[in-house]
Amino acid sequence: MAISDQDSWWRDAVIYQVYPRSFADNDGDGIGDIDGIRARLGHLSELGVDAIWMSPWYPSPMADAGYDVADFRDIDPAFGTLAGAEALITEAHAAGIRMIIDIVPNHVSSEHVWFKKALADPGAPERELFWFRPGRGPDGDEMPTDWVGEFDGTTWTRTTDPDGTPGDWYLHLFTPEQPDLNWDHPAVRAEFEDILRFWFDRGVDGIRIDSAALLFKDRDLPAVVDGRRHPFHDLDEVHDVYRAWRRVADSYPNRALIGEVWMPEVDRFANYLRPDELHAAFNFDFLVCAWDPRLMRECIDRTLHAHAAIGAPATWVLSNHDVTRHVTRYGRAETTFSFANNLDGVPVDLELGTRRARAAALLSLSLPGATYVYQGEELGLWENENIPVEKLQDPMYGRRGHSRDGCRVPLPWSGDEPPFGFSTVAGWLPQPPEWKDRTVQAQTGDPSSMLELYRAAIGLRRAEPGLHDSAMTWLPAAPGVLAYTRGPGFACVLNMSGVAVTLPDHDRRLLASNPLDGDLLPPDTAVWLRLRTES
Ligand code: GLC
Repeated sequence: MAISDQDSWWRDAVIYQVYPRSFADNDGDGIGDIDGIRARLGHLSELGVDAIWMSPWYPSPMADAGYDVADFRDIDPAFGTLAGAEALITEAHAAGIRMIIDIVPNHVSSEHVWFKKALADPGAPERELFWFRPGRGPDGDEMPTDWVGEFDGTTWTRTTDPDGTPGDWYLHLFTPEQPDLNWDHPAVRAEFEDILRFWFDRGVDGIRIDSAALLFKDRDLPAVVDGRRHPFHDLDEVHDVYRAWRRVADSYPNRALIGEVWMPEVDRFANYLRPDELHAAFNFDFLVCAWDPRLMRECIDRTLHAHAAIGAPATWVLSNHDVTRHVTRYGRAETTFSFANNLDGVPVDLELGTRRARAAALLSLSLPGATYVYQGEELGLWENENIPVEKLQDPMYGRRGHSRDGCRVPLPWSGDEPPFGFSTVAGWLPQPPEWKDRTVQAQTGDPSSMLELYRAAIGLRRAEPGLHDSAMTWLPAAPGVLAYTRGPGFACVLNMSGVAVTLPDHDRRLLASNPLDGDLLPPDTAVWLRLRTES
């Protein structure tokens, strides 16, 4: 089934995030690649997803797993070739799956040609494309600001001039290998608009925009002071860039821009989704929300309210390549997620986490908007918290003691032991031997498996008219229970209380995340119901 001409597909799509290093390895080097994805497209068709979002696949020294891009118009040899990427786009389209790629506009790799030129010569015009500044203090050996970065905390690195003397510093909100671009410069804007066209011309259907709120920096380099305009987060100038990107996207049919916008203030978040800006943005409010009925309901209401005000579609995201997998999160006493609160080593009840993850799948796939599935979530994978330190690659590890590698472990496809069909050799990160029950092969045909739950839910969602553009309406429910309708004949009931509850009046059960006890819905279980409608 080829992709349709459906306008606004991003409004209610199921979008599957592929993390290319860890999806499937075709050339036997232990690192996933494009040909591996092509060979396994059948898994995604059977799952029934509408689109793939590919994490970065460009040439990169991999200082931050490819989020340090050296050339936006090519493919890293570890992943394949540009011709292979084009073939994947064509084959995905033929299978009815759209392609979203990841663009990283805040920074480039220190191996990008612009930065190499800027570093080689303090007088080079490319210097202006970045943030080079003299240091503070009599010898200029103090960082120009005290801004704190995401990874090891530092945000500036001092350069050495060609004559060997210490030179200016350059800004990097992430690793030193990821110099920040100067978005005040027209050449930066022109370059990215051209990169968008490069990929849209190759048939890409959407762009995921990395760190979308960080592009602009206050040129006065002020300190971060609470209550004052932040010097580099969510500056108003960024909207002008996305308006320009929207014009580029709108010059092609059915292209979507999807922002990674971490923003606690809902009204500031919604600014990115105004009708002439991005089409959608990830809902991190939902992702970090605790497994708690009151907080979850408030989060859903807040999300829908903010999006309705500007006519934008909501998104529902439970996991991605940056956060602890939700089977693990929901199996802990503390079920929220925060980068600042490292819970590694805190005991996890994986059975409870899995049970809740199953219920969360029926929740996230029946709320109004688009739903994201992070690879492996459909297999019920948990965070691998036992990776030996010497194997860790994530630059975040150094500063926070927490590494994001645990959610980036290669997928288990088949067989009884690692690498579980991922590769012919050991994968780049170790897979837990217990994943032998979580392979695609082991779960296929087992009606109680996570995989068959996802397949059934996505199939029902596709066929159910109420799960497309209809609004949701809360139903009265017992304490700790979330119940809502979508359209006249469909309801979802999620029991987040500690006791079994009676189901509302209904015609038929469509799908349950765990077996019901007669007409009782057990704790941490969700069910989709066909309601009686007046005829
Ligand atoms: C985004 C990515 C993350 C990356 C960072 C820097 O948050 O999701 O993986 O490390 O940006 O590009």
